[in-house]
Amino acid sequence: MIRGLFQTKRLDDILAAAASTEHTLKRTLGWGHVTLLGIGGIIGAGIFATVGEAAAGVGGKAGAGPSLMLSFTITALVCGFTALCYAEFASMVPISGSAYTYAYSTLGELVAWIIGWDLILEYAVGNTAVAISWAGYFKTFLRGCGVDVPIWLAIDYRSAVRDGLVDQLPHVFGVPIAFNVLAFGIVAAITVLLVWGIKESARFNAGMVIVKLIVLAFFVVLAFYYVSPTQMVKNWHPFQPTGWKGTFTGAAVIFFAYIGFDAVSTVAEETRNPKRDLPIGIIASLVICTVIYIVVAGVFSGLMPFEELQKRPKTELAESLTMALDYVAPHQTWATTIVAFGSVVAHTAVLLVFQMGQPRIFFSIARDGLLPPTFARIHPRFKTPHITTILTGVFVGTVAGVSNIDEMVALTNIGTLFAFALVCIGITILRHTDADRPRPFRVPFGAWLLPMLGVASCMFLMLYLPPASWWRFIGWLVLGMSVYLAYGYSHSTVGRKAGRSPFASLGLKAMALGVLLIAIGLFVVPHDALPAEILREAFNPTGATHTHSLYGIVLISIGLVLSAAGAARASTSRR
Ligand code: ALA
Repeated sequence: MIRGLFQTKRLDDILAAAASTEHTLKRTLGWGHVTLLGIGGIIGAGIFATVGEAAAGVGGKAGAGPSLMLSFTITALVCGFTALCYAEFASMVPISGSAYTYAYSTLGELVAWIIGWDLILEYAVGNTAVAISWAGYFKTFLRGCGVDVPIWLAIDYRSAVRDGLVDQLPHVFGVPIAFNVLAFGIVAAITVLLVWGIKESARFNAGMVIVKLIVLAFFVVLAFYYVSPTQMVKNWHPFQPTGWKGTFTGAAVIFFAYIGFDAVSTVAEETRNPKRDLPIGIIASLVICTVIYIVVAGVFSGLMPFEELQKRPKTELAESLTMALDYVAPHQTWATTIVAFGSVVAHTAVLLVFQMGQPRIFFSIARDGLLPPTFARIHPRFKTPHITTILTGVFVGTVAGVSNIDEMVALTNIGTLFAFALVCIGITILRHTDADRPRPFRVPFGAWLLPMLGVASCMFLMLYLPPASWWRFIGWLVLGMSVYLAYGYSHSTVGRKAGRSPFASLGLKAMALGVLLIAIGLFVVPHDALPAEILREAFNPTGATHTHSLYGIVLISIGLVLSAAGAARASTSRR
């Protein structure tokens, strides 16, 4: 069984399966579209919403202050290593599954599944954060136009509690009601557009990219109109108010702003000349966005001194650019409304690219048999993967309606950094296992240097993310493992070719259930504590988190026993 888990898929088979007539997408995109899709996917909630938090440092985290510019440079470097690796893979394996497909050909089925599952954190969970941020800016935009959206339609319950807004929510039979209808609504609209067709979506994206670039330029020009360069430079002191810790923490938080260049690789099967256009699209979009980000970060920290930022509540920091403008030019509602409008458009483009990417990854996974075949169905008329597009829409819209943005951003960051690290490792492996395959684009300086710098730097940034995101991330991966054992292992096309039984044995089912219990246990334990503290709390009946710790540990223990018994039975029945 263990050997089967690391079964790799030959690149030639991957390319042949994609070329089969049954499941193919329409090739309509050129390098210009692809670059614009990259920019469309990159510039969004990160620059408009997370910079405030990264600069000020909230919830006990160290703030980067003006060194935010440095944070952006550091993260650009981390992403640069990975972007080169993505470019090599995308030119060599132009298949819509992105990192999932690359892992299948290098690290084997289990790691491929883990990455595929992990990418849900990047695409779907990432989009819940973008949708929530979209809702915040849309509300500000509407306010600027004289329309006030009731609070309960634009916030989730826990954020309302955190911000002390529960009294403002309507109550039905004493239960406070809050659902972010705005976030849900935008996801629903994007889903309809994506089912309709990719060419139309790409055109729509190009228009939105132009608007967001104009609005960011407008922000910079306006900033210089209200604040002199000398004053800005003054506000840049002290440059690192909390030292390197703040700069690196800032880098880990604003990593979210860069996610998206890799999403370009998911339209590989809809690109006319993917071997050339994908590397161009990935690298060009990253370079263009890096320049824009460093300029905007410099201007932002030039507008608001660090001490001022620290006084601001979380809700204000979440609309960072309009907050900064409002600070230097109070009562200029027209200016903040224009920036809010640009931000809404920018967020919409990100939503579009990510909602487009997620179904294409599901599509590739299903084509390999690791998910049910309906996930690989293409709409007969629109030629889009409509079922997965709709499923993604329902998941993202619903989660966005009830979730808190910070948690979603941290979870997305950790999941994406992990996927990036595995992609970099894959490049080194494939250079050795398949050295002769033509590579239209190669990562410079050999198989080791830049890919390994990519791995090390991704791991480094992961360490600066909060413990809560680690618990959730591990829980998510374990949950994925349970899905794989329950379905993917016995349905895998590669596994079947290798003689794996198409029926899940009792042992395998017990393992799947055991692993599921472990995952639930990991979600139940308190997420802000370390393992030793959780153990202590579980045995301390008066502890504040006693119940959660105890139930979590009981579930994990039962799960461990059950999965070990299942594994033992699976291996004996095999023999
Ligand atoms: N990079 C994307 C954004 O900032 C995810 O919204």
